[in-house]
Amino acid sequence: MNRKSIALFASGNGSNAVNLIDFFHNHPQIEVKTLVCNKADAPVVSKAKIRGIEVLTFTNEEFESGLTVLQELDYRAIDWIILAGFLRKIPVNIIHGFQDRIINIHPSLLPKFGGKGMYGKYVHQAVIEAKESQSGISIHLVNEEFDQGKILAQFKTSVDPEDTCDTLSEKIHQLEHKHFPIIAEQTILNS
Ligand code: GRF
Repeated sequence: MNRKSIALFASGNGSNAVNLIDFFHNHPQIEVKTLVCNKADAPVVSKAKIRGIEVLTFTNEEFESGLTVLQELDYRAIDWIILAGFLRKIPVNIIHGFQDRIINIHPSLLPKFGGKGMYGKYVHQAVIEAKESQSGISIHLVNEEFDQGKILAQFKTSVDPEDTCDTLSEKIHQLEHKHFPIIAEQTILNS
């Protein structure tokens, strides 16, 4: 059986992207084929290359139109897209080209703290300011509405009074690293 091919999309540090690359290394049914990035100097780029993963970078205009990106994904026979800290909006033509085959991770318990402007530390800041006692992660499919696709799984952690953005981010990253690869694997294999 042909392995399912994944394109990872990431913009920054890439701890989730690296964790997924390592998890699927030598996987019998799933292969990370390429990493798509919008910044040639993002730390994730060298981390992926060291692991032997091809990196594709596109300009902002190319991301907005989506056409070149789609062509490159088609050329590589990509089956699934996984967004792992990707900060640009996915254009509608890519969403339609990969209907129900784009997975995202969001660092809050959606629908809370989702939507435009809610990414990275802004999410954690908002959670702390709202004095939430719990936060967590949401792994979900991507549709045209920001952070509103079908939720595949959520995992919780406590928010303690002494938590800062940094400590909460650390707790969230631990949850992400533990659960994201497994949920992605189950979703792809059960599709
Ligand atoms: C993660 O917290 C993820 O939930 C969010 O962006 C962050 C990326 O972190 N979408 P990293 O670059 O994978 O370390």
